[in-house]
Amino acid sequence: MAKEPVKNNFRQVAQTLAGLEEVLAGELRKLGAENIEQGSRAVSYTGSLKTLYLTNLSSRTAIRVLVPIADFPCPDENVFYEELRKIKWEEYFSVDATFAVEAITAASAMTHSKFVALKAKDAIVDRFRDRFNRRPDVERKNPDMNVHIRISKDHCIVSLDSTGTPLYKRGYRGDSALAPINESLAAGLIMLTGWDKIMPLVDPMCGSGTFLVEAALMAKNMPPSFLRRSWTFMKWKRFLPYHAQLFNEARDEVFGKKTTRVNTIISGSDIDFEVVGAARDNVKAARFSHEIRIENMPFDQTVPPHGGGIVILNPPYGERITPEDINKLYKEIGDHLKKKYIGYTAWILTSNEEAEKHIGLHPSKRYKVFNGPLECSFMRFELYSGTRKARGSRADSEYVAPANDNELKPQE
Ligand SMILES: C[S@@+](CC[C@H](N)C(=O)[O-])C[C@H]1O[C@@H](n2cnc3c(N)ncnc32)[C@H](O)[C@@H]1O
Repeated sequence: MAKEPVKNNFRQVAQTLAGLEEVLAGELRKLGAENIEQGSRAVSYTGSLKTLYLTNLSSRTAIRVLVPIADFPCPDENVFYEELRKIKWEEYFSVDATFAVEAITAASAMTHSKFVALKAKDAIVDRFRDRFNRRPDVERKNPDMNVHIRISKDHCIVSLDSTGTPLYKRGYRGDSALAPINESLAAGLIMLTGWDKIMPLVDPMCGSGTFLVEAALMAKNMPPSFLRRSWTFMKWKRFLPYHAQLFNEARDEVFGKKTTRVNTIISGSDIDFEVVGAARDNVKAARFSHEIRIENMPFDQTVPPHGGGIVILNPPYGERITPEDINKLYKEIGDHLKKKYIGYTAWILTSNEEAEKHIGLHPSKRYKVFNGPLECSFMRFELYSGTRKARGSRADSEYVAPANDNELKPQE
């Protein structure tokens, strides 16, 4: 049987988290993607089948990669059903394959995503029944084909999800920590800091250790897919049929960049004894026990490695403690940063605007991102030492430690 030619240059859409679109676009550019357009929580581009494989293997900030196959105006459910039924589904998967439909709607006449998914399923099943007198089965967990529907402002885009289990589920994390950050968000935030992988990176409220593991993966050039064995595209037989040789080429390329060791200090700590145990388990599952050190310690007792670096803090936002206590914690954070983290650039992620004021430092940069449903600020604070930069030339947003410790006062 003649082999299908490898399809070149088709549109792909990598989904991400709000605030990481630019970082993702940068990753895609490095992978050779073309015609890159940033959207909301997504970046669209053109590329080959190998680009699709490379993105799924190596993007730290993408959560899934879609291949759009149809789009149309969608004023109501009847049009939706008819348009869905018109799609030649038999060219995408066989009647013996399993499928699932995921739908999202926004600002449209069709308001309920579950109803949209159900209608789409009916249309697909009816089309198969018309032609084969049989229908493919729906399989929610691990289907052969994931159909993705997005209706926004009464316009529908139908795509095939090449990924399956979202890419942020790297596979190294258990579920014991409180409020762990999404792995793709952690990686994207580290990228936003501009960390050079050489200076130390510390997380003194490390929770499950997500920032630490993501940083170590970056420092080692290890792809985020290092524990992953399967993607939905591996089950594709008709449309963009799985090309094992091309996939192996892409995988060799991605894993060929990995280095043998992490050449810097990556360390963390947390006040909660049990959380520290869970973080160590995660670090072990990610095979970084020798590279990442985690201690059980309150932030105000931490002393970072000498010589400066990056400190990332994802403190509690205050859902489980009183406003007084959370404000006090943020004040302690600011005070201790000014005392012990001179020479460091601090990055703090929080959704609590009131508590943020108690840090007592002015951010020199602020990104808006979403941590789950919570709109957060990811803020940079420069903590220069008096000798490192002339005080007269500093920007207002920077904190310069006084030469004499007695002078130390929180900023207004
Ligand atoms: C939002 S969670 C961090 C989640 C983390 N980024 C992750 O991915 O799992 C906040 C963490 O701060 C820790 N924490 C709260 N107060 C602290 C303090 N004073 N010193 C050190 N850690 C503290 C909590 O135990 C919790 O693990």
